Amino acid sequence: MATELLALDRVNAFYGDSHVLHDVSLQVRPGRLLALLGRNGAGKSTCMQAIAGLLPPRSGRIRLGGAEVQGSAPEAICRRGVGFVPQGRRIFPTLTVRENLDVAARRGAGGGKRWSRDDVQAIFPRLKEREKQLAGSLSGGEQQMLAIGRALMTSPVLLLLDEPSEGLAPQIVHELGRVLDKLKDDISILLVEQNLGLALQLADDVVLLNTGRVVFDGTREEFDTRQPELQRHLGIA
Ligand SMILES: Nc1ncnc2c1ncn2[C@@H]1O[C@H](COP(=O)(O)OP(=O)(O)OP(=O)(O)O)[C@@H](O)[C@H]1O
Ligand SMILES: [Mg+2]
Repeated sequence: MATELLALDRVNAFYGDSHVLHDVSLQVRPGRLLALLGRNGAGKSTCMQAIAGLLPPRSGRIRLGGAEVQGSAPEAICRRGVGFVPQGRRIFPTLTVRENLDVAARRGAGGGKRWSRDDVQAIFPRLKEREKQLAGSLSGGEQQMLAIGRALMTSPVLLLLDEPSEGLAPQIVHELGRVLDKLKDDISILLVEQNLGLALQLADDVVLLNTGRVVFDGTREEFDTRQPELQRHLGIA
């Protein structure tokens, strides 16, 4: 029987006639963090969209906890325990911090550890201090924390994070790294990151995409060993 939490098996995805993911296979194992890397346009966000049910693959299989979910609606994927924080942070700017968290909780139980608003505010103290503030007036880092907090409120078993450090100041990225490291104790994570330092600090496993194809799939240690030859697929310093 499958031991992985999430498995993509030869997934092909298209935008119209444009073939973006080519036979992509990857696995996220329970309790581990997989960093999905690759240069701009490699297909990382497309992969996340396919998993979250926003872009059904044209062929291939996506299994969650053993059940095939390709073609399922985003709400159904969420109910199966996938919390998705898309690139660019989706929050409700005209609701308060507290309302943003409470609305997310209503999307229901994903079957993972239950997160109350208090739990989320304990790991992100800023979200407690600012709970009555309108989300649209938060700083970029605070909005990212709120977006992650909203995903946690759905009690996910797997968290999909698409470039959480994008546009954040180094000090805030450091803080985010500390929180993600702590979250790893409770939840499996699929992390897309352009910040290679952050990604490799957190990753147990690494998958590298180049023009929609997997060019490396292995442990962080294996990635470290092969990094010189893989560097050209990263497109980042
Ligand atoms: N909605 C869309 N319609 C058509 N093509 C798209 C769409 N979204 C992305 N693409 C194309 O699909 C390819 C993969 O894009 P994707 O957003 O998955 O890359 P990415 O690895 O997330 O890049 P980045 O690091 O810049 O976020 C790119 O060539 C992109 O131009
Ligand atoms: Mg992207």
